[in-house]
Amino acid sequence: MPKIYGATSANRTPVGLLIRFANQWVAGETMADALVRADEANDRHIGAILNLLGEHVEGRSAVLAAVDEYIEVIDAAENRKMDACVSIKPTQCGIIIDQEFFWSNVKKILDRVRSLDAFLWMDMEGSRFTDRTLDVYRRALAAYDRVGVAVQTNLRRTEKDVESLLEVGGIVRLCKGAYRELPPVGVRDRREVDANFRRVLGLLFERGDRFAVATHDGAMIERTLELVRAAPRRFEFQMLLGVRDALKDELVAKGHRVLEYIPYGPNWLPYFTRRLRERPRNVFTMVRSFMSG
Ligand code: FDA
Repeated sequence: MPKIYGATSANRTPVGLLIRFANQWVAGETMADALVRADEANDRHIGAILNLLGEHVEGRSAVLAAVDEYIEVIDAAENRKMDACVSIKPTQCGIIIDQEFFWSNVKKILDRVRSLDAFLWMDMEGSRFTDRTLDVYRRALAAYDRVGVAVQTNLRRTEKDVESLLEVGGIVRLCKGAYRELPPVGVRDRREVDANFRRVLGLLFERGDRFAVATHDGAMIERTLELVRAAPRRFEFQMLLGVRDALKDELVAKGHRVLEYIPYGPNWLPYFTRRLRERPRNVFTMVRSFMSG
């Protein structure tokens, strides 16, 4: 990414331009690139959530390499005394190979997390993985305390999932959901996604104590601020690298905890595509930046 392409003529090839554009949301191809962005976030009093890009990994050795890299990045953040944690994707850590293999990998990362007082988030992917992800999350929660899981309000099941997770002390990251889901599993449209978000947010403030609100949506953030004024809770805002930076600083200035999700690694295309898809204006901006070279 920037370090690879720099200000060379490769910058002006279609791939070079694509990478340059992707660079707003992806730290770069290496762990070092991610640590630089994490440092920058920390300088602004924003915590970092480091994520090695990669999904649907089918080979055991590639999964084990990703797990080793997570352990390395946890160590690197600890050595630098950073305010940082990690977030993994289930399909990167073995869920599509075998459930016990997935669990053994999560355990391996959690052992390191526990020894360093770090924190592990489990991302949530498409709905065919929800049950299996929550199964491993519940096992993790029974043995470790510094672990949280994402839930998506574009799924009908989420309110019930959150109710039952809160009963066992689950730590939840509430997001709208980045994967296309159709009824009856998914909700009907964006309005319902938002209504569900408000409902589950209310539930978190009512019965939860420690959770994350992961959105860039001003209306959802405003609602969160209203709820926290009425009932203070241990919660944090989480946002993606390259999105709504001024808002992050504003929330920090108001005394809220904000974390930035910092993805890195060579497998950035699926993540980049999701970011483009969720905001058509980004496609327009990208095309314009291509035309201006
Ligand atoms: P929405 O997409 O409705 O956008 C609301 C407003 O935010 C827009 O009108 C615009 O102002 C601003 N905005 C949003 N995206 C922008 C962009 N790219 N550039 C500029 N402005 C933008 N999903 C998932 O399925 N599983 C997961 O594990 C996670 N994990 C996760 C972690 C963190 C920290 C975040 C922030 C998000 C996720 N997500 C996720 C992604 C999430 O589900 C969702 O797809 C995106 O956050 C976009 O939804 P918003 O809530 O921001 O609202």
